[in-house]
Amino acid sequence: MSGLQELSVVNCLITLAVSGLALLFFSCSGYFERLLDRWRGRVPPGPLVLPVIGAVGVDPLRPEQTFRKWAAQYGSMFSFFLGDRFCIGVSDLNVIRRLFKDERFTNRSQAGIIRYLDGEPLKGIIMGHGGVWKEHRRFTLTALRDFGFGRVSGAEYIHREESSLLTAFRDKNGQPFDPKMLFATAVSNVISCMLFTSELKPGDARFAKFVAETTTLMANFVASGAMEVYPWLRHFPPFSRRLKELNARHMENIGLLAEMVQDHKKSFDSDHPRDYIDAFFCVQEERRKRDADEGTFTDAQLVRNLADVFIAGYETTSTYLRWSMVYMILHPEVQRKVQAEIDAYIGNSRLPNLADKAKLPYTDAVTIEIHRICYFVPFSVPHAASEDVEFEGYLIPKGTEIWPLVCHHFMNPDVWGDPEVFRPERFIDATGNLIGSLVDEVQPFSSGRRACIGEPLARMEVFGFFAAILQHFTLSSEVPPSRDSTISAVRAPLPFTMIATPRV
Ligand code: HEM
Repeated sequence: MSGLQELSVVNCLITLAVSGLALLFFSCSGYFERLLDRWRGRVPPGPLVLPVIGAVGVDPLRPEQTFRKWAAQYGSMFSFFLGDRFCIGVSDLNVIRRLFKDERFTNRSQAGIIRYLDGEPLKGIIMGHGGVWKEHRRFTLTALRDFGFGRVSGAEYIHREESSLLTAFRDKNGQPFDPKMLFATAVSNVISCMLFTSELKPGDARFAKFVAETTTLMANFVASGAMEVYPWLRHFPPFSRRLKELNARHMENIGLLAEMVQDHKKSFDSDHPRDYIDAFFCVQEERRKRDADEGTFTDAQLVRNLADVFIAGYETTSTYLRWSMVYMILHPEVQRKVQAEIDAYIGNSRLPNLADKAKLPYTDAVTIEIHRICYFVPFSVPHAASEDVEFEGYLIPKGTEIWPLVCHHFMNPDVWGDPEVFRPERFIDATGNLIGSLVDEVQPFSSGRRACIGEPLARMEVFGFFAAILQHFTLSSEVPPSRDSTISAVRAPLPFTMIATPRV
């Protein structure tokens, strides 16, 4: 090789190296900028982060433990990267409340794998933001109030499902059983009555398929794990295959819902709206008449809303009920106290309902303690900043994800003293009443402008199902269930079996 040729090879290598470095620098410019901000104290402090990789030292099996450790180390606000996503973890409930009251923190992050899912999840109520989200959140709140939460029918649907559930428990004849599918059916029947009364009857094969698909979909979404933080993995096996499967399942569900919406249309009568879908059609019709255009009230948006409300309401409530069984089996002394309270106030001639709650403070305290100790939505659903915001001495740059660390607050020794101990009595004062200030520390439904829209329904269901089960059965098991949980966005108990012995 001549000297000239050697020089050109060296030049080539230098150019490649410089371009590579420049590419890395530009693709990580956000990372370097935030690191500089951290160094200057402009953004909250936090754990060691590396370009591309993000925070170092996250326990992939128990991420909430890592977040609890960071919260203890760095205080109420700390910053970290998930891949290239800049996030702020917030462990103090009062700070979370102040942030979530602010309109500028109502966005959702649209990073992660969700961008690559079909069926436009980013336009839905859970993951959307901006005008479409606002309009459909408002509509959904009103429609669900009209067709469930606020009306007698909501309580009726729940009573009907409670009765079926009690019968199913009795049919087990004192033999061990896994309650998962029984709770899933009861909870999903209640939501489906409000969303699509006339189309779906419990036991409907399409509906059973929809519930089964939704459960698998949630599990598959969690299995996409690493892709959520490093979405570029989707180009490589086995992740490319997983994403394809996830999309196929999701679209099958969307297809089922779309089919049900079209069937519903055939029997729609605007003078007699029956459920959420009919309420949606009414607005659609009004818009067409008024503006000659349905605006955002399209059939596709309706399908998206249905999928979101169903997913948000089904997995959470049925998971709570399973945890409540675990803790009652592990604490027979608490069961006995709940049963004594229900026996004294209600007896067994009728089922308990939400109106009884004020007269059953111990039972209420137990349901709150279960929310606290299970913290089964450990990071709530993170929000994102819609613009640069100065907040309590820190800069929160546009796009920053805000992670409310429910997992830390519910288990913070400074708040609870003995957080690891299951002790419903902590919420009861010397006169036997609930301690309001402590109850307010348990906000599993989040707060502010994006708080859970299903809270009234979930509260009715949680209290109603739990009290009805203990009114009629004493719970036990051959093998004590574990307090450990699955790894998921919703912490669920590990599979267990239980024995329900009739009391009356
Ligand atoms: C025990 C049961 C439940 C718990 C613990 C729970 C908890 C939550 C939490 C923590 C959020 C995120 C709030 C935020 O971003 O600040 C949320 C959002 C949501 N929940 Fe629930 N939820 C439950 C039941 C339900 C039910 C029964 C429904 C529907 C009928 C429902 C519908 C929704 C929807 C649609 C959202 C998204 C709201 C938005 O982003 O604007 N949830 N829930």
